[in-house]
Amino acid sequence: MTNRSSRIYALSFTTLLIISGCSDMGTEAPTTSSQPPPPSPTPEVSYLQQVRPILQRHGCISCHGGSGGLFVETQAQILQGGLHGPAVKPGKADSSLIIQKLSTVPPFGDRMPQGGPYLPDSTIQVIRSWINQGAKNN
Ligand code: HEC
Repeated sequence: MTNRSSRIYALSFTTLLIISGCSDMGTEAPTTSSQPPPPSPTPEVSYLQQVRPILQRHGCISCHGGSGGLFVETQAQILQGGLHGPAVKPGKADSSLIIQKLSTVPPFGDRMPQGGPYLPDSTIQVIRSWINQGAKNN
């Protein structure tokens, strides 16, 4: 009887860990809270801070103590209008009398301000935006 010492082969496995340089996940994907652009490209126009100073600067208020039946000192007066009805149709600049009277070819009478100098397009555009945004008393 021969005792056979069994050999235990310890097999050591060399494990090569290949750490594949996990390519830069680096830049953190922004957790998309990116907001959609505002619906209107134009920031809200203020009657009191923008429109009224325009009317004042161009003599509309001082001359319009009732010319054409119209007063233009307050938003309410402008909405009420004069001989030809409301000077402003909220939301509809193109069909608003005040815009038509500021344009090169007014539907009747003179271009405003009567006798000039007339408003630059960019200034008229401010009033247009105010009307299209609802002609608020803001
Ligand atoms: C020098 C005086 C004078 C100035 C300044 C003036 N207006 Fe007039 N406006 C008049 C007269 C007079 C009429 C009536 C005759 C006409 O329609 O041309 C009138 C008419 C109008 C009407 C038509 C009213 C209606 O119902 O018939 C509007 C709107 C108007 N003006 C807006 C303006 C605005 C806005 C300004 C400033 C940018 C302005 N006006 C500046 C004298 C003036």
